[in-house]
Amino acid sequence: MKKLAVLSVFIWGVLAGINWDIYEHGVVDTFRWSRPFPDDGTDPGGFHVHCKAEGTFHAKMYKLSDLIEPEPLGLQPWRFGIEEFLARRGYPGSWDGVDHKDQNREIVVMEYVDVPEPVRHWIEEQQRDVFEETIENGQKVMRKKRNDRKWLFGIFAKPKRENQQINDTVAPKPTDAAAVDPAHDIKDEDKIVVFAAGAAYEILPLWVSKGSKCERAMSNLTKYKHQAEDDTILAWVTDHTKPKRDLDKRDITFKVEAMEVTESEEGKRSRLMWEKLHRTLRRNERRMQKEERMKVRRELTEGRIKDEL
Ligand SMILES: *[C@@H]1O[C@H](CO)[C@@H](O)[C@H](O)[C@H]1NC(C)=O
Ligand SMILES: *[C@@H]1O[C@H](CO)[C@@H](O)[C@H](O)[C@H]1NC(C)=O
Repeated sequence: MKKLAVLSVFIWGVLAGINWDIYEHGVVDTFRWSRPFPDDGTDPGGFHVHCKAEGTFHAKMYKLSDLIEPEPLGLQPWRFGIEEFLARRGYPGSWDGVDHKDQNREIVVMEYVDVPEPVRHWIEEQQRDVFEETIENGQKVMRKKRNDRKWLFGIFAKPKRENQQINDTVAPKPTDAAAVDPAHDIKDEDKIVVFAAGAAYEILPLWVSKGSKCERAMSNLTKYKHQAEDDTILAWVTDHTKPKRDLDKRDITFKVEAMEVTESEEGKRSRLMWEKLHRTLRRNERRMQKEERMKVRRELTEGRIKDEL
């Protein structure tokens, strides 16, 4: 009977597209995202969906143990560069923030040209150093601002010669087009991007914004929220395949879906009702706790007085 229950949960999980690695390997502490809309294609309850966008992307997925292997099964030319890049910040996790630990940690590698333009633009913006003005000893000074997002996506050049090692990420293009030095400019066709899948969740709407009916809203990351709220963008990686490593394949695809939502009148009414109910319950709970404390105190004092008598 118990076996049957486990089996039915498993079958349900497969149908619902559950990533079982979450339970088997665990999730990094920093991963704060969860699926923000139902997985059966229905709209989030209490919200109007104004528009939806989706896109499917081709990538390759490696384990860190592949770094030392030659291409195409490994990433040998970039080995030191990728190790250095990953060491710059905590591992953001794979899909759903899963951490397979140590040499089994997964990284995604894509042709840079396969990355949608708004994502490329965001990555390059992040990589530029940001300065802030501070006052030191009464003097105004510009200090480089710590920017952890800079290390979410690593851009590397493809090697031009055999056995060429690529140890550094590509510097972002100057904002001023005239300042681009053609001798050192690397075309996007000649670049790859390396990231932990968990990094993608930071900017999911940008993967599907371009050309969608709500391109403007989806390009505005301040509207992108972890859960449905009025006037927000929600997004999720609704599907991803695994590389067929037993067949020496590294290819995967992943699908991103995003939507723009506003709270419906009905949704707002029921939210306000629940919030009120919740406040009342909490107030009652606090009152009961207070009465309990006073009762204990009274009993203690009465007990002490009795003892003294
Ligand atoms: C890359 O880094 C490795 C390890 O630090 C070093 O041995 C190698 O010479 C470097 N290659 C280049 C081209 O800088
Ligand atoms: C982005 O969205 C926020 C929140 O809705 C809004 O205040 C801001 O004006 C928007 N920015 C742009 C450039 O549209």
